[in-house]
Amino acid sequence: MDKICILDMGSQYTHLIARRIREHGVYSEILPNNISVDELKQHKPIGIILSGGPNSVYEENSPQLTEDFFTYIKKEKIPVLGICYGFHLIIHQLGGRIKSFTQKEYGKMELEILKPGKLLDSLDKTEIVWMSHGDQVEIMPEGFEILAKTSTCPIAAYANEGFGLYGVQFHPEVNHTPKGMTILDNFISKIVQAKKQWKLENWIEKAIESIKREIGPKDRVILGLSGGVDSSVVAVLLQKAIGNRLHSVFVNNGVLRKNEEVEVQETFQQVLKFENFHYVDAADLFLERLKNVEDPEEKRRIIGHTFIEVFESKTIELEKTYPDIKYLAQGTIYPDRVETSATSSVSAKIKSHHNLTLPDDMTLKIIEPLKDLYKDEVRKIGIKLGLPPNIIKRHPFPGPGLAVRIIGAIEKDKLSILRDADEILIDEIKKAGVYDNLWQAFCVFLPLKTVGIMGDFRTYEYICAIRVVESLDVMTANFAKLDWELLEKIGSRIINEVKGINRVVYDISNKPPSTIEYE
Ligand code: XMP
Repeated sequence: MDKICILDMGSQYTHLIARRIREHGVYSEILPNNISVDELKQHKPIGIILSGGPNSVYEENSPQLTEDFFTYIKKEKIPVLGICYGFHLIIHQLGGRIKSFTQKEYGKMELEILKPGKLLDSLDKTEIVWMSHGDQVEIMPEGFEILAKTSTCPIAAYANEGFGLYGVQFHPEVNHTPKGMTILDNFISKIVQAKKQWKLENWIEKAIESIKREIGPKDRVILGLSGGVDSSVVAVLLQKAIGNRLHSVFVNNGVLRKNEEVEVQETFQQVLKFENFHYVDAADLFLERLKNVEDPEEKRRIIGHTFIEVFESKTIELEKTYPDIKYLAQGTIYPDRVETSATSSVSAKIKSHHNLTLPDDMTLKIIEPLKDLYKDEVRKIGIKLGLPPNIIKRHPFPGPGLAVRIIGAIEKDKLSILRDADEILIDEIKKAGVYDNLWQAFCVFLPLKTVGIMGDFRTYEYICAIRVVESLDVMTANFAKLDWELLEKIGSRIINEVKGINRVVYDISNKPPSTIEYE
């Protein structure tokens, strides 16, 4: 299958580029910027994109391409598109000059097309584009021609047709560049001439065939099922491939949302007719270990380790009856595997990692059927597999659950308050028809008491924060500008119906600098 490789220069948008290419029907993969030419060759790219990045090309330790990169792409005639930092890097490494401009270009700018060439074909004379870098190309080496400029950036797009090098100062992959998809399609279709072979239609049959081949006719598979989109899609896919040789284990960790354990059991046992669905109620064990724990990282660590322990002992128990359990299935998806330069340096410091790895002494072989897919692709596959919409459209829910939405120590009464408030929020958001447009909507329990008045009585109760965000790529998120009347309704229902809350606040912070979750 034709493949486009993206070399990650550290941009927060690298995954977005890869997704856009796939939306155009071409398979794409992200690779580190310091990859050797020999390794790159193994991937057999038919086109390469150099992503944006926060650095300046002259900075010490800024990402650079290996010297033989240009020899390789020239010899193999592999077209390259540089975006933002990648745009500067091509010029810099081929002997041109980059300059940090005092009049920096950020945000929406008007692009004037001087000569469309293949890259800017079928665009209007002027187009809106999204800029996010202070550096600009000042002098280009021989063979390059200017395709477009803006009022303060004389070289905003270039081409070197002979060499197969193209570049744009702006970001075609973001929605703020309205014709960005056309530019990427021009690169894919007119320059690279890639065959559009990445279709999810055939994906399911192929995946089922390959699971059958890998697992063999007798072996059994165990899966930790959370009820979230990824593990649910893996479960249904495996059920189609190996039927009741799949054992799904759903652990109640005591920090689930209201009725979640009931709903997940009903969906899998009654609706989807899973035979070997195992419910493990370990709520008391988790809550006992979380008692008086206030530190967010400690909460995550305890929940992670306890989960592994509970899952492992259930596996050992099942192995006694089913010695053919040989595989452990995981709902790993593509972004979980590819730590892009942008995320790996930052996220490691912010929060301990989300997805757990099981201990080395578990001798099960790992199977990860979704490992090459993006979330939106997983959702599409889930719909085709007949998973109910309540699972497919579900907002992401963190592994440590409500534990990271109760600030400070977790207590049963606080959990119950938070569950009731959260249920009201989700109910109203769904009734207003906005749930599917939001990335996440949830309540957070703030262990602060303030004064209120209810009827003739003075109250002294806790605060509930409402967090509702929109996001495309999770790296950035904006608080949702919900309708005031909807917010008012949510607030008054929570205050009136949930005992223990007498004040509701709406969180107006964006990410960055805030994160989506509170802990
Ligand atoms: P933050 O709070 O870092 O969250 O902006 C980004 C996204 O990740 C989810 N999240 C988690 N998911 N385990 C998970 O499976 C975790 O420990 C975890 N922490 C945050 C969060 O809900 C948001 O969608």
